[in-house]
Amino acid sequence: MNLPPFDIFPFISDEKIRLRQIIASDMNDLLDISYYDAKQAKNVAQAIEMQAKIDKDYDDGNSIHWGIEDISTNKIVGTCGYYRGLDKGEGELGCVLLPQFRGKGFMTNAMQLAIDFGLENMELKRIWAITSKENNQAIKLLERLNFIKLTDLPDDEIEYELKR
Ligand SMILES: CC(C)(COP(=O)(O)OP(=O)(O)OC[C@H]1O[C@@H](n2cnc3c(N)ncnc32)[C@H](O)[C@@H]1OP(=O)(O)O)[C@@H](O)C(=O)NCCC(=O)NCCS
Repeated sequence: MNLPPFDIFPFISDEKIRLRQIIASDMNDLLDISYYDAKQAKNVAQAIEMQAKIDKDYDDGNSIHWGIEDISTNKIVGTCGYYRGLDKGEGELGCVLLPQFRGKGFMTNAMQLAIDFGLENMELKRIWAITSKENNQAIKLLERLNFIKLTDLPDDEIEYELKR
């Protein structure tokens, strides 16, 4: 098992996007999608506080959170990462795109890079994702990435998983 924190923060890319560490100057752009413990930041100061908690979680080995950058513009378009389960050799994959960058294929590429990194480099034995039954775009995304639907969860949520 090869888990965070890594000697060098993992930087991964394909022909369309880069997954990279989030830095202070990103916080303005990411405000609309800055969350921690399911709470959304109301201003940049709160987003910075949340990012400090995210960085600590990474240093403690509990998560890894990437910024997704569009290679053609160098603009940050969203985030993704593993947020739970690493202590058991598994990873809950989460993701969010800024609304103006949805419907362009960025997240399919980002999740594929995160999945390949999780399985090959981190040696995760299982990756899972939870979404609501109404979240058609998330369901399409997960099915496109070959996640398999598991049993329904309470509160209209469903779990999808991908195994090695
Ligand atoms: C879930 C979420 C990331 C999906 O975003 P998305 O834009 O649909 O996903 P992608 O970036 O992979 O884009 C794929 C879509 O772009 C379309 N597309 C347009 N141009 C494209 C291109 N050049 N290349 C690839 N796809 C393209 C695809 O057809 C696809 O649309 P479809 O699913 O309606 O067929 C987004 O809805 C979101 O941020 N939601 C809020 C957070 C959330 O629900 N997270 C999920 C938790 S599990």
